[in-house]
Amino acid sequence: MDKFVIEGGTPLHGTIPVSGSKNSALPALAAALLTADTVVLDRIPRVRDIRTMERLLVDIGSEIDAGENSERVILNTKKIVSPEAPYELVKTMRASSLVLGPLVARAGRARVSLPGGCAIGARPINFHLAGLEHLGAKISQEHGYIEAEAANGLKGAQVVFDRITVTGTEDILMAAVLAEGETVIENAAREPEVVDLAHLLRKMGAQIEGEGTSVIRVQGVSSLHGATHEIIADRIEAGTFVIAGAITGAELCITGCLPEHLTALIAKLAEAGATITQTNDTTLRVERRDGPLKPADMITEEYPGFPTDLQAQYMALMTQADGISIVTETIFENRFMHAQELMRMGANIRLDGRQAIIAGRSRLTGAGVIASDLRASASLVLAALVAKGETVIDRVYHIDRGYEKIEEKLSAAGAKITRAE
Ligand code: EPZ
Repeated sequence: MDKFVIEGGTPLHGTIPVSGSKNSALPALAAALLTADTVVLDRIPRVRDIRTMERLLVDIGSEIDAGENSERVILNTKKIVSPEAPYELVKTMRASSLVLGPLVARAGRARVSLPGGCAIGARPINFHLAGLEHLGAKISQEHGYIEAEAANGLKGAQVVFDRITVTGTEDILMAAVLAEGETVIENAAREPEVVDLAHLLRKMGAQIEGEGTSVIRVQGVSSLHGATHEIIADRIEAGTFVIAGAITGAELCITGCLPEHLTALIAKLAEAGATITQTNDTTLRVERRDGPLKPADMITEEYPGFPTDLQAQYMALMTQADGISIVTETIFENRFMHAQELMRMGANIRLDGRQAIIAGRSRLTGAGVIASDLRASASLVLAALVAKGETVIDRVYHIDRGYEKIEEKLSAAGAKITRAE
């Protein structure tokens, strides 16, 4: 199992390039199931979760041409051979549930393993299933699998989500584009990844309006054709590197990103005393910081609020602020696993339900720590950059799920980080 060995204290400098968005690439790959034509996707990040999704699509019946290092993936699903997402794949990546909507829409049925829990919470897919039922699918559950059936096709309907769900919105959007008649999705997620998916579907011939707002209207069409689409930049990867600059106080340029997707982070960092400037449409520059970081409370919210996927990284930053800050996690019920590991490095954090109270500034020291989930692992990397001495992070396959060559990108910017077997 790979480890990262990080020597803290070396200043960062230069630029870090951002890859395509994992959370936009995953639904885009699933959307290729909706047509028998060829779909060409560019800027696909070469991370584990993408390879898992590609394996799943091949099992379902897609032909995929994805060079090991190329960011271009060419998919063609002439026929759905097996409308299934087996447990052994779903248990490693719950985003496999994104094939539910496309399979029911294209093949009239789907058999998808229930995701089971994951480190950060129960993460059920009940809203996905309720939405599909509103569109006319018959849903049953047995042996840990969901069976969804719509032999006579799906019918447009009003789908109101009890709670905002990103992949739930994406699943229903992909089902609705081939449903008969109009579908109105209310309380829809507004994340940029949902908007990117709508742009791809529209290029494929779907009739969608309202993406990026809470109400998305879809006029179903009888079939979709192929398209070529470039995935948006990964705002969470970009935000992680912005925080890397803020925590080390270095001047750092993050290139190839979309600053308009990071307004909540940039505003919060300004409150904390870190100045981030946009130097052009795709570049953010973290200004060198001379003064201390100030504590700034943060609450995670659905987009455009502060992203839950940057909560762990922000907590690492707040260990370096002079004073008490409170981080509130409103999206997931168990997303503070990084706190224990940060405490082993010398952070002073008290957990109280959905809140973490961080008392900074802590002089962090390197330690052996274990990664638990994708973003928690990123927060340990950030803490290790400013910790005194050596940190060894075990189980970095968690990081490889969502960050493309993070150790190479950070090393190129001056960090002392190497991957060890
Ligand atoms: C997406 O997960 C992202 N994953 C997550 O990123 C991200 O943390 C999350 O959205 C929130 O922004 C992908 O896009 C592949 P939700 P998703 O449905 O769609 C509850 C990462 O690190 N819920 O918006 O699964 C759920 O338990 C990952 O890249 C139900 O109860 O999240 C959670 O508490 C981690 N029933 C809340 O809603 C449902 O049917 C929001 O979940 C669906 C969700």
